[in-house]
Amino acid sequence: MKIVATRAELAAWRDACGGKTLGFVPTMGYLHEGHFSLVRESRGANDLTAVSIFVNPTQFGPTEDLARYPRDFESDRRNLEALGVDLLYAPDARDMYGEGTETWVVNRGSCDILCGRSRPGHFDGVLTVVLKLFQRTRPTRAYFGKKDYQQFVLIRRMAQDLDLPVEVLGRPTVRLPSGLALSSRNSYLTHGELEAAPALHRTLAEMRRRAHSREETRVEALTHWGRQTLEASGFKVDYLEIRAAETLSERAVAGDACVALAAAYLGKTRLIDNLEF
Ligand code: PAF
Repeated sequence: MKIVATRAELAAWRDACGGKTLGFVPTMGYLHEGHFSLVRESRGANDLTAVSIFVNPTQFGPTEDLARYPRDFESDRRNLEALGVDLLYAPDARDMYGEGTETWVVNRGSCDILCGRSRPGHFDGVLTVVLKLFQRTRPTRAYFGKKDYQQFVLIRRMAQDLDLPVEVLGRPTVRLPSGLALSSRNSYLTHGELEAAPALHRTLAEMRRRAHSREETRVEALTHWGRQTLEASGFKVDYLEIRAAETLSERAVAGDACVALAAAYLGKTRLIDNLEF
């Protein structure tokens, strides 16, 4: 596995790839099985696979966890090497942004709903860095976990709106047997919080069961029940909504092609999860 830290080295490697197809998995490191499943999928579908590790400062708010975001480069490197990744791009903020950026990618349709409402500017940072990563890596296909469902929808929309020559693919969330979605931020949870955390997935799954069985399909009633259930399990709910799976537009009635999305705090840790109906 070749490791590069600068855009010049990355460009030289990419130019030498010729006509080979390239799968790309952008990450912020502290990798887990969710990331590894994306890498395996990329390896199966492309001639070459590149991964980036960059904890992107522009997607963290001033009171968020940038400084304490978990990092373990050595373990990530070993795991990616063992998975047969061809290139690891691990730039620093100077290589990524130089003196800073005045130009941003902003989605004006769905940037202020769900996570965008609670984390103003977050998706401007995500979309901007992902566009820069796409420009530098020039991938054929790019792979994203659907645990960050809104992020995936916005990146896919960016590629469509800006005619980017890349296929953006979303892949299922990887879960522990308890149902808890794998996330680098799970490392913040105390033992007690880890025991409570699977209630997030259980609640979404029960909302889906009620909707599928037609026991309850009104979005307002389903989300009201879900919020109460999460609060009873020790969560402080940021949002719990059911929206159209493709566009994230609002829905009054839950049916096929919907997705339930939640963000909720356990102690100081904000967990997100979702379930497609
Ligand atoms: O999902 C992530 O890890 C990040 O938001 C991403 C897509 C790598 C952009 O920094």
